[in-house]
Amino acid sequence: MNVQIDHNLEEIRRFRPSPEFAAGAIAKPDLYTDAAADRVGFWGEQARDLLHWHTPFTKTLDWSNPPFATWFEDGELNVAYNCLDRHVLAGNGERIAIHWEGEPGDSRDITYAQLTAEVKKAANLLTSLGVSAGDRVAIYLPMIPEAVVSMLAVARIGAIHSVVFGGFSPDSLHSRIVDAEAKLVITSDGGYRKGRPFPLKETVDAALEKSETTVEHVLVVKRTGEDVAWTEGRDLWWDDEIALVDADHEAKAFPAEQPLFILYTSGTTGKPKGILHTSGGYLTQTAFTHRNVFDLHPETDVYWCTADVGWITGHSYVVYGPLTNGATQVLYEGTPDTPIPGRWWQIIEKYRVSILYTAPTAIRSFMKMGRQIPQQFDLRSLRLLGSVGEPINPEAWIWYRHVIGGGSIPVVDTWWQTETGAIMISALPGITDLKPGSAQVAIPGVSIDILSDDGEPVTGTDGGLLVVTEPWPSMLRGIWGDPERFTETYWEKFGDKYFAGDGARRDTDGDIWLLGRVDDVMNVSGHRLSTAEIESSLVAHDLTAEAAVVGAADETTGQAVVAFVILKERQQGVMTNEEASELLRTHVSKQIGAIARPRQVFIVPELPKTRSGKIMRRLLRDLAEGREIGDTTTLAETSVMTSIMEQVR
Ligand code: PRX
Repeated sequence: MNVQIDHNLEEIRRFRPSPEFAAGAIAKPDLYTDAAADRVGFWGEQARDLLHWHTPFTKTLDWSNPPFATWFEDGELNVAYNCLDRHVLAGNGERIAIHWEGEPGDSRDITYAQLTAEVKKAANLLTSLGVSAGDRVAIYLPMIPEAVVSMLAVARIGAIHSVVFGGFSPDSLHSRIVDAEAKLVITSDGGYRKGRPFPLKETVDAALEKSETTVEHVLVVKRTGEDVAWTEGRDLWWDDEIALVDADHEAKAFPAEQPLFILYTSGTTGKPKGILHTSGGYLTQTAFTHRNVFDLHPETDVYWCTADVGWITGHSYVVYGPLTNGATQVLYEGTPDTPIPGRWWQIIEKYRVSILYTAPTAIRSFMKMGRQIPQQFDLRSLRLLGSVGEPINPEAWIWYRHVIGGGSIPVVDTWWQTETGAIMISALPGITDLKPGSAQVAIPGVSIDILSDDGEPVTGTDGGLLVVTEPWPSMLRGIWGDPERFTETYWEKFGDKYFAGDGARRDTDGDIWLLGRVDDVMNVSGHRLSTAEIESSLVAHDLTAEAAVVGAADETTGQAVVAFVILKERQQGVMTNEEASELLRTHVSKQIGAIARPRQVFIVPELPKTRSGKIMRRLLRDLAEGREIGDTTTLAETSVMTSIMEQVR
């Protein structure tokens, strides 16, 4: 196992919360004492306080059959009702739920009453199309209000959504539709990115052509007005259909363990895993963390999480957490630097955003562009900053706090995963002394430990493997259609402790520092990619005989995809290495999606292998990162590295 240490471990700066912030903070220190006294009871209390239950639960946790947990099992609720109707009924219908900003500059303000009305109609539309509780609906949309409306409409009728990020290719979309056996796809003609419309419906058409599927209808939102191909009987315009349905819709209660969504993420094999989340526990922990980690004051704050709804951060901290808490938030369709380099800061100024949640990769690319860009805008409305997706290096943390936050507001670094559903490790603003670069402490009610490879707790400050030692409300309930893989991936290594796949260490204060993945999962711009998935894409190309992929440290994106490819014998000399490399980069981008495009593809004569034939990625990573090559004594052929190096350098 490879634990990469990319932090400055000597970090000693501490930032104490200001007395004013602490005085007004939502989170109080007794959260920790209450949770420590009765962890399960604490979550029961949060579930009752934060959510509306149609039928109250009497059982909080059932862990009698690990790793299969149930939370609030005999309770019943409706997730969409919790995000919408109850705010309207409480007299907050006129509060803005979403300030939506399209990339070309068009915008819409949507109140809770309006959002509720739209979701009711969409729920009726889904029902009229034959979608019922438990059915799967694939959503492939840009960041437009209909993405949120679709997710909530699916939730409202007890169906299961599978949102697929709009950057994924027809192949990736197809495999997700097939795996989940989706009945309906919701998409749009396209969206806007970098100043241009990009097509989505076309990708759906291509995906559905790949094989016979279970999809009965494709519902198409009009966004760009670009021409689209049409399959009569299958394809329907959202606007036409929504005009035909009833405006009223009563939210029925579903059991707390009703599946809410499947979200595919990369694992260590070539096949993405469909992570399954359910309703009551998921909503409890997303609402709890959203309120306490971001110190949300729903009457006055304007919150903005920049993640796309195609990722878990968008599910938990654009849709479910904020809406459950009645927050006002910004939803932005486009890229950070279109049409001007300061677009994000312009949006913060325009809507007086007070809480910003984004990823280190974005912060580092803004750092590169220089502070003079954000300094042209009034960012004084900001009072809290959050980070997610990968370790944030102390330099980026400090820059974020000073240049964006004006030097005195809290920055919280939040560690969690698609599988954990909600934030697991983070400082609580107003309570925790902040330490740049460290995710710091488990949130109240979550039990984290660091173990050695053989399962012993690591004492002191040595590195080890991060585990969650007790079940938590928003934990994944399984991998769609593959209970064995679920058990094997997360629970086999340490019995009933959840193995996260991350390396970590504690410092002398007991604060937790994340050290990166310990498996063959890469983290590029905060997005998870599997080395195996990219290798199989490369090998599927006619040029390739063999391929090895590594995640190499990258100044902006955290890690970058670097591939080493051996060409088939009959392909050698047909084109230059540069041409072959370019062709393969484009191929991966087309097959998986632009986020998987390798930064470099090196054409090499051989790959370093052990005597048992295992590729030694560690050596390739050394090479990709320009380091001295490490120990090569276990190689079958010790001269291999020399011949590879000749090609690469
Ligand atoms: O390696 C950790 C890293 O991102 C992985 C989870 O990726 P994903 O499921 O796509 O979810 C990303 C958004 C929650 C983790 O295994 N990671 C996430 N947040 C942090 C992090 N690494 C260090 N610090 C973080 N704050």
